[in-house]
Amino acid sequence: MFPRRGEDYIALGDIPIIETWKALEACVAKGLTRNIGVCNFSIKKLDALCRQASIRPVMNQIELHPYLQQRGMLDYCRTNTIQLTAYSPLGSGDRPAGMKKSGEPTLLDNPVMQRVASKHGRTPGQVLLAWGLCRETVVIPKSVNPERLRQNLAAADLVLDPQDMADIAALDRGSRFVDGSFFEGPGSPYTLGALWDE
Ligand SMILES: NC(=O)c1ccc[n+]([C@@H]2O[C@H](COP(=O)([O-])OP(=O)(O)OC[C@H]3O[C@@H](n4cnc5c(N)ncnc54)[C@H](OP(=O)(O)O)[C@@H]3O)[C@@H](O)[C@H]2O)c1
Repeated sequence: MFPRRGEDYIALGDIPIIETWKALEACVAKGLTRNIGVCNFSIKKLDALCRQASIRPVMNQIELHPYLQQRGMLDYCRTNTIQLTAYSPLGSGDRPAGMKKSGEPTLLDNPVMQRVASKHGRTPGQVLLAWGLCRETVVIPKSVNPERLRQNLAAADLVLDPQDMADIAALDRGSRFVDGSFFEGPGSPYTLGALWDE
């Protein structure tokens, strides 16, 4: 799934982001797609793209959940009318073992999530999704289980109150489940600092 050698990567020095973006804009011009967006962009990269682009990105898909709330990004995207999609909104529990750190916290077992869930007679997964929807983000939980798929869809009508939102806001720890370290393999032109601009 991931690059293994230096030549498996495309360096941004060889194909700058704006060059890729121009190719996507050409797809819009040809009627091949209506909307184009980006993924894993920082505010710095979004801002640079918006300044150079003819068509601004409609979407940025990033990791978002109570342990990585990214409020600066949320504000930036609201101000600039860019929709945010929250990936791994449930904590991505079935990532391959090689992408997990030992002792990493789980979201679904968090006591706050469990308390809010039992207060509303819902599941912790539904609380996590309702939290994302309350922040006006798109949530894309993955499930292969029919009952959990139903539960996840039903999270759309769960309304969290201001106390729930305040309790969950306090859980932010700026931590990623998908930390991008596979971008730092042998021979990679990327560093995590440059990837996330952090
Ligand atoms: N753009 C990117 O760089 C990027 C990176 C990572 C992920 N993504 C995308 O984001 C989407 C979701 O992220 P993800 O798969 O990493 O993680 P996720 O949706 O946060 O978590 C998936 C895990 O949660 C379980 N689950 C689903 N619904 C549940 C519920 N109601 N209660 C308890 N457990 C539940 C699933 O198990 P079951 O299947 O057994 O229900 C699975 O183990 C995927 O479409 C993925 O492709 C994008």
